[in-house]
Amino acid sequence: MTKSIGVASMSKSDPDISAGRHPFLDKEGQKIQRLFDEIAPRYDRLNRLFSFSIDLWWRRRAVRSLRATAGDRILDACCGTGDLAMALIEQVAGVEVIGSDFSLPMLQAGNRKFHRADRPTLVRADTMHLPFEDCTFDGAMVAFGMRNVVDLDAGLRELRRVLKPGGRLMILEFTEMQNRWIRPFSNFYQSQLLPRLGNRLSGSRVKAYSYLDESVRDWPDAERLADKIRSAPLHAVRHRTLFPGNVAVHEAVRG
Ligand SMILES: C[S@@+](CC[C@H](N)C(=O)[O-])C[C@H]1O[C@@H](n2cnc3c(N)ncnc32)[C@H](O)[C@@H]1O
Repeated sequence: MTKSIGVASMSKSDPDISAGRHPFLDKEGQKIQRLFDEIAPRYDRLNRLFSFSIDLWWRRRAVRSLRATAGDRILDACCGTGDLAMALIEQVAGVEVIGSDFSLPMLQAGNRKFHRADRPTLVRADTMHLPFEDCTFDGAMVAFGMRNVVDLDAGLRELRRVLKPGGRLMILEFTEMQNRWIRPFSNFYQSQLLPRLGNRLSGSRVKAYSYLDESVRDWPDAERLADKIRSAPLHAVRHRTLFPGNVAVHEAVRG
């Protein structure tokens, strides 16, 4: 299924994390990886704080789009600390989840959260160069990760490549606040409050939370993202927003 899972170990302290193919990243990719390396120890706590814990509910709702059942093999790309994988494992008994991410500290933080029995396989890998054979997965999912992938089109093509025909893709990402009454407050929170608090509380020297705000603003709106997914090419592309209106779930199928 893969050239790497269970073969190479990243470090002695994390024998469960496989090396994958070494991510050969360009400068932009290296910058993003370093940024996540830096905030990894506080990432989960700050997510809960800044979303008032609603992020856990978003992930639980989003994973349903995959319609996964026991025995399915699902990729969680850009898995970070594994919260999306956890949401799926909690809902679908017997599902096999492989989490991939290029930041070792994020994977390490995730690895500590799982019990041995329900632990996903974790692989260090770049989403633009996944170390898996074609047509490996029944489903692929990404939460709050695709907007950090330097070349979105290449990332989408790579996710399509590793899906089996008929396999489903789900992407959960921020989008412009749909509720126009809340929009001014949401924009203020997202662009002013969150970067300042985030940079301070995470102790980030590279101003990670300013970058995260910029990445949300640069991210295509829901319709444009749907077009990009169609160009991968994937089919039956649909999207919907989740409460309170600043998060979109896209789903698609490999033909
Ligand atoms: C905002 S976090 C989201 C983590 C997790 N999916 C979640 O729901 O909390 C984005 C993650 O994407 C990873 N990432 C960004 N670009 C990547 C790439 N090209 N390949 C692999 N991982 C990437 C980062 O290391 C980080 O862990």
